[in-house]
Amino acid sequence: MEHYAAIIGWGMSVPRRVVTNDELARQIDTSNEWIRSRTGIGERRIASADEYTSVLATAASQQAIERAGIAPEAIDLVILATSTPDRPFPATASVIQAQLGIPRAGAFDVVAACSGFVYGLHIANSMIQSGAHQTILLVAADLFSHILNWHDRNTCVLFGDGAGAVVLQQRDQPLGLLSAVLGSAGEYESLMLIERGGTRQPLSAENSHLQDRYFSMHGREVFKHAIREMALSSQQAIEEAGLQPDAINLIIPHQANLRIIEVLIKRLEIPFKRVFVNLERYGNTSAASVPIALCEAVEQGQLHDGDHVLLTSFGGGFTWASAVVRWGR
Ligand code: ACO
Repeated sequence: MEHYAAIIGWGMSVPRRVVTNDELARQIDTSNEWIRSRTGIGERRIASADEYTSVLATAASQQAIERAGIAPEAIDLVILATSTPDRPFPATASVIQAQLGIPRAGAFDVVAACSGFVYGLHIANSMIQSGAHQTILLVAADLFSHILNWHDRNTCVLFGDGAGAVVLQQRDQPLGLLSAVLGSAGEYESLMLIERGGTRQPLSAENSHLQDRYFSMHGREVFKHAIREMALSSQQAIEEAGLQPDAINLIIPHQANLRIIEVLIKRLEIPFKRVFVNLERYGNTSAASVPIALCEAVEQGQLHDGDHVLLTSFGGGFTWASAVVRWGR
């Protein structure tokens, strides 16, 4: 019998501290007007010292498990999508597993930048479809505030911290992921990266003051690729799900820039009223952006049983991923 992976629980957690555009404008050479008109972002959440990756990820997961109405012991695999783990080693997924009191479930991290959640969804779905796992916790958490250069106005105004989670469970009816398209173009690595701090260019006492230990991005170039790849992979995902664009009830795109979203949906010929956008309040939370938006869309009553939702994301690597989900438990 064919198996499907329904999303049966959803949750999110963002830091307490709100940082507005005006607050940033008091620290660096920028303005509320520039940030809003170029990106659509109004404010973001920034983590305090006690709100590290596993703390936000565990809180989002607890909410998702509660909404799923299952005991933590029912979970047999924990997947965390992040580019900003608690520590370089070991994987933060194991910390979350222990914090949640899930005994002995497998746990690992997925690193695919802003596309990490949709990559994770594809992995979790395949694990459930194969019959290897029954109930999977997929959580995405990123704290870009720790890797940003807070003097670089080109990047630091764009991001926020947060976590979003879902619980997937095996079903025999066609619910959950109907299609997924993943892609990567490593030749563009240099357009969005942290140059130093890995094995290729290690950090040392001599170079630790250099700016290249922080995230850097060629925004204009990334903008063009993001639209192209999200549009192409979305069209492919809709087609592979056996649907027409007008059968998509809601699009939840990566929340990086309102202008990217506007051009994207024009290309997909889907009206703006069918797009969920919350970047005004959170900025770009990287891997967490799609599940945070998904969680808010469900809580605001924008998804109903049987609806088709398109998820699409783009990030460092480059990586991109689009998926069509049939909503319902
Ligand atoms: N405040 C004021 N001025 C600024 C700021 C700022 N915060 N940042 C840049 N500027 C200036 C620039 O210096 C430049 O000035 P210049 O013309 O004198 O050199 C001017 O504004 C215009 O810069 P552009 O780069 O052309 O601005 P653009 O309209 O392209 O917007 C942005 C920049 C918002 C970064 C946009 O390119 C973008 O959103 N790119 C895509 C980002 C993205 O989607 N990332 C995806 C994934 S992220 C991940 O994976 C982690």
